[in-house]
Amino acid sequence: MTAPDLVLPPCDFTVFGGTGDLALRKLLPGLYEQERRRQLPAGTRIIGVSRTPLDDAGYRDLVTHALFDHVAEDHLEAGALHRLTARLHHLTLDIDSAEDWDRLHGLLKDRPVSRLAGARTSTTETAEVTRIHYLAVGSDLFGTICDRLDDLGLVTPRCRVVLEKPIGADLASSRQVNDAVGRVFEERQIFRIDHYLGKESVQNLLVTRFANVFLEPIWNSRWVDHVQITVAETLGVGERGDYYDRAGALRDMVQNHLLQLLCLVAMEPPSYVGGDAHDAVRDEKLKVLRALAPLTGTEVDRATVRGQYTSYGADLGHPSTTETFVALRAEVQNWRWSGVPFYLRTGKRLARQESTIEVVFKEPPHAMFPDSEGVTTPNRLTIRMQPDEGMQLHLTAKHPGPGGIRLHPASLDLTWADTFDERSPEPYERLLRDVMRGVPTLFMRRDEVEAAWGWVEPILEQWRASGVEPVRYHPGTDGPAAAERLLARDGRTWQEGSR
Ligand code: BG6
Repeated sequence: MTAPDLVLPPCDFTVFGGTGDLALRKLLPGLYEQERRRQLPAGTRIIGVSRTPLDDAGYRDLVTHALFDHVAEDHLEAGALHRLTARLHHLTLDIDSAEDWDRLHGLLKDRPVSRLAGARTSTTETAEVTRIHYLAVGSDLFGTICDRLDDLGLVTPRCRVVLEKPIGADLASSRQVNDAVGRVFEERQIFRIDHYLGKESVQNLLVTRFANVFLEPIWNSRWVDHVQITVAETLGVGERGDYYDRAGALRDMVQNHLLQLLCLVAMEPPSYVGGDAHDAVRDEKLKVLRALAPLTGTEVDRATVRGQYTSYGADLGHPSTTETFVALRAEVQNWRWSGVPFYLRTGKRLARQESTIEVVFKEPPHAMFPDSEGVTTPNRLTIRMQPDEGMQLHLTAKHPGPGGIRLHPASLDLTWADTFDERSPEPYERLLRDVMRGVPTLFMRRDEVEAAWGWVEPILEQWRASGVEPVRYHPGTDGPAAAERLLARDGRTWQEGSR
């Protein structure tokens, strides 16, 4: 967990893609929140690197505007804004220009702590600055950037690199990218970010499962009927059309976020979470990915739905066959989950902005209330990642009053905002702090990324081979009707609206 009083050595935090959407919407607001809580190590600099011709002052203006747009109003504090912008620098860099790289080198090289304003001088502190290179650019550039950093001597054992997803566009290209980065950085220095793992409710899933006793005995195919994972968005592709049209929903969301969520639901208890056991959780997640039943050939046609919202082409400015919606049925082939379907669904321009995991349990084995009014509904655990992070356990209760037993659906509700005074940190804020601390537990290991690609790739191949276009759905709906049919075939329905 984040320790507010931990003293860290200063960082040089370089963001490649420093004027991009991700940097301005997520990374800088995440760093700002750390600044507000006074968690940024003294002497830390943030260096935006991009092709945009901007000096430091221009970058400070740009970032200040972005913070006003993307930080909660009641978190905007003049002091914190001032402190953060004072740390900002911008370097205009053309990736092919040796001169520009030399300028980056000039900015980053040899910065002894003793010369840093505000740096702590405790005897335990090492004199070296922690260099963090955040690659918020397309993964085709990762190799070149790492090579240049290496050529310039900017990669030391203390240095870390953060990779944004998607890493590659399929298994082969992801291997190439990982190889290229791996020639320069050791695996322990590589932080592959999946911001879903930084969400409080996602981490809490581990605690709910493993710090309590009531769930584990029924968390298996004997009692669980099926699992639904939904990440629904109301927004379209916005300004990211270029990237998104090359990726599509399967690569953009399923290969990483949704499969990671599936892993956390399905994995076996690791022996230990926290401390130095960075690999315990990652080892268990990997086993789940490797146990996913492969979807290949015509089975892909039966088990997946590919959709596109009707105004997608207009948003892009040209027609396209890229999917903006995916629903699929997966199975984890192991003792615990044999025969339990995991239904995954994600899409843009849907009716609701909602990310949930629904664990739907089986009906009670014997109907004990045949003469009562009402029916039993299967127990269900809803884990709400957004909005209103929390958890609900759906039960059947007795409606109060005389006149026989009347069955009524009811729920136990744990909403974070009502239960805890502290606000949940934004995922990037939490994860960037972990990078600074050098804690990789919530980041994806190379073998996980490749196992996920290995499962996703045959789906992409079959979609390509069949040449079938995505089914269209209207913005503001729950997506294509085919997604309903996917569950209806198994006698099930999607749980719409978790509250
Ligand atoms: C990103 C995807 O990783 O996650 C985006 O690239 C998507 O397309 C976003 O909108 C969703 O994240 P969140 O946290 O808003 O659900």
